[in-house]
Amino acid sequence: MRISDRLTAICRAAEPGESVADIGTDHGYVPYMLYRDGTAPKVIMSDVSAGSLAKAKQTFAEHETKVPEDWFRVGDGLDTIGPGEVDTVIIAGLGGRTIIDILSADPDKTRTVHRLILQPRNAAGTVRFWLFTHGFRICEEILAKEGKFVCEVISAVSGASEPTAPPYPEDDIRWAYPEMFRSCDAALLRERIGWKLSSIEEEVTNLRQSSTDQSERIRRLSADADYLRRFIE
Ligand SMILES: C[S@@+](CC[C@H](N)C(=O)[O-])C[C@H]1O[C@@H](n2cnc3c(N)ncnc32)[C@H](O)[C@@H]1O
Repeated sequence: MRISDRLTAICRAAEPGESVADIGTDHGYVPYMLYRDGTAPKVIMSDVSAGSLAKAKQTFAEHETKVPEDWFRVGDGLDTIGPGEVDTVIIAGLGGRTIIDILSADPDKTRTVHRLILQPRNAAGTVRFWLFTHGFRICEEILAKEGKFVCEVISAVSGASEPTAPPYPEDDIRWAYPEMFRSCDAALLRERIGWKLSSIEEEVTNLRQSSTDQSERIRRLSADADYLRRFIE
């Protein structure tokens, strides 16, 4: 079992004593660690692929950890869990839009989940926007390294509010790089922000060579860069 800092960070986000469903569990490492460490009294492992779920079963078997057969479930998204069956839903390692599709499929069921721990591979800003506009309040942000990537682990709790009008549009830089990042590991934050600043600089250089007027786009990117620099100055 190879446990990356990303998987450790997802475990760290779980609340002791809460039951968990890990949707898209694949190898089942996160639920295995949460159960082994006594953090979660019950762990549902769910995956759309029977082959992936077989890996999760293998993880528990290899560590001689017996759990009810019913904790291993094959199916799409939240279809495999009942309303209110678990306190926490973890969805990690999937694209942000896939995560939103899973959470949007049955809004009444999603509302019965107390805590969401989400680790989108991309479109994290869109995920935060969805959470805000669907009554979830983000309570923790963790940055963790896996390979050359700095990954984001977003925790949110439900019932904070009725669906609310967002304070700024979905493509605003503040969804992708929220103020809460200031509580994250400083070196990882610097790396994450540095990467984004480089990509903005490259885009601005290219736009300056355009034959059409790109001044509005350049102005907006420069404002984004100013916002980002404040995290690391
Ligand atoms: C890249 S793996 C991530 C595994 C693990 N969660 C992690 O973070 O390391 C993605 C897994 O999600 C599963 N998956 C993709 N779409 C799904 C869906 N709609 N419902 C359930 N599982 C899904 C895939 O079969 C695969 O096992």
